[in-house]
Amino acid sequence: MKTQWWKNAVGYQIYPRSFHDSNGDGIGDLRGIIEKLDYIHRLGVDCLWICPFYRSPMDDNGYDVSDFYDIDPTFGTLADAKELIEKAHALKIRVILDLVLNHTSDQHPWFIESRKSTDNPRRDYYIWRKPRFDQQGNRIPPTNWASFFEGSCWKYDEMTDEYYMKIFSDKMPDLNWENQNLRNEMAAMTQWWLDFGVDGFRVDAIAHLAKDMTFTDSLQAANSLGVVPDWSKFSNRKELFGYLHELHDNVLNKYDCLTVGEVGGGANVTDAVNYAGYHARAFNMVFNFDHIWHNGAQGDPMKKETQIVTNVVTLKQTFDRWIQGMDKKGWIPHYWLNHDHPRVINQYGDPQRFHRESGCMLGTILLTLPGTPFIYNGEEIGMTNVDYDDIGLFNDVWAKNIYADLISRLPKSQVLAYLRRTSRDNARTPMQWDSSSNAGFTNGTPFQRVVGNYTVINVKDQETDSKSILNAYRQLIRLRKHGHLHNVLVHGDFELLDAENKDVFAYRRSDADTTVWVIANFRGATIDFILPDQPKCVHYDNYGSTEISQAIKLQPYQALILER
Ligand code: GLC
Ligand code: CA
Repeated sequence: MKTQWWKNAVGYQIYPRSFHDSNGDGIGDLRGIIEKLDYIHRLGVDCLWICPFYRSPMDDNGYDVSDFYDIDPTFGTLADAKELIEKAHALKIRVILDLVLNHTSDQHPWFIESRKSTDNPRRDYYIWRKPRFDQQGNRIPPTNWASFFEGSCWKYDEMTDEYYMKIFSDKMPDLNWENQNLRNEMAAMTQWWLDFGVDGFRVDAIAHLAKDMTFTDSLQAANSLGVVPDWSKFSNRKELFGYLHELHDNVLNKYDCLTVGEVGGGANVTDAVNYAGYHARAFNMVFNFDHIWHNGAQGDPMKKETQIVTNVVTLKQTFDRWIQGMDKKGWIPHYWLNHDHPRVINQYGDPQRFHRESGCMLGTILLTLPGTPFIYNGEEIGMTNVDYDDIGLFNDVWAKNIYADLISRLPKSQVLAYLRRTSRDNARTPMQWDSSSNAGFTNGTPFQRVVGNYTVINVKDQETDSKSILNAYRQLIRLRKHGHLHNVLVHGDFELLDAENKDVFAYRRSDADTTVWVIANFRGATIDFILPDQPKCVHYDNYGSTEISQAIKLQPYQALILER
């Protein structure tokens, strides 16, 4: 039976490498997660999304899979995975995995076969094309399309004198979803994990399964590397929906599971209805990226820190567009960040001056939006971006490629400042459990340097501090899941209040019985705000007030949940 359990869930995303190391090799692992299940349970979340832990050469930290049916030894064994799922289930916590369908590692046996000869039975599992030659007779890639991780989306392979397509790193060849045998293999693998006991999937890079198979050059402008970042060549193309319907009808639909697709490449709300509308026959919901970067931190690496300011208006409009656009048509998830983004407290809060206030404020929004919220590990204690001052400390393949490109043109300090605000490493540093060496993450040497502020930002200290961000997240999760506001917060209507206000993100959540106002100040200054009416009671205030009048002077990063 389909229970749609995920509508009432609060998700928690774990990046296993960075979460907790149980055996002292410096890398987080599955037993590390098992040891922290009690912590997760006490947080109040009930659905874990765990990033890939399949066997992998780790070019892209596990998104480059070389065996879908096994656990990488760095993370543990299949028995550990089974135990983790069973112990989570015993605590009424569901577990979803990251399903990587778009590509494999170049060390996957299919690719090792595929590259051997043009008539190898696995040749057509990947996308191979002959070289082109320019006027001087130099070999050039089959098209001018860029990859997401810099450079061309094609890699030349001497073995057969052809190029293979790879829209991420060189070591992540794209699978050819036009091939029915390949599709059958992926469906069988998906089913195998459902039978293993998982409760669903976050489906990686799903917008890119179908490519423009006419392989014509993009006419858009090339970037500094001479390739064209024209994502329309392999994003959200209509052919891909056929593949998704097949997977849905043959496998996913037979289980009471949750599927969340990750849709990048400029997917809009109309696309989202095709992916995750109630009649879509594809996924239950999709993650979009539109609410990230409303502070100008991305783009021009020469930008000064003072030019990085949250645009509250566009941020609110973005949430509103998605919520209204999907209203009654499909379900949506919300998240502030994941393993591909900077820490939200650096993006939209102020970790230096208002760590606690802004951390609690951001949690208030996340946990009072309609849909299903996903918390990213460390967000619940306000973990921050990295403090690295050397490129050697970064691990992210994207960051390293960007560095190599920028360093010849820009001063080093500027490039590093740019990476400190944009790199994916920001979200991948070891979880800060306590103030002991290496933040209690490992007894060994951590694979990545812990952010220096772990002595003041850590779980242990926040456990005992009733006003901490951690305890605020617990309280907010309880409010959402168990109080009389549960229904209105999960299912109620959403309407922006004072939509043009440049400093305050405020909205009304309402159903037939209850009206709730959520008011959040996004500035490190006091701001005057007038409520629509006198509130009946205060359900949450990160400044601890018990009474609020209709005209309020909002304190820096103050957040309120009020009932009318
Ligand atoms: C997704 C993942 C990201 C990964 C990429 C390729 O965007 O979230 O971490 O690098 O897909 O698998
Ligand atoms: Ca380990």
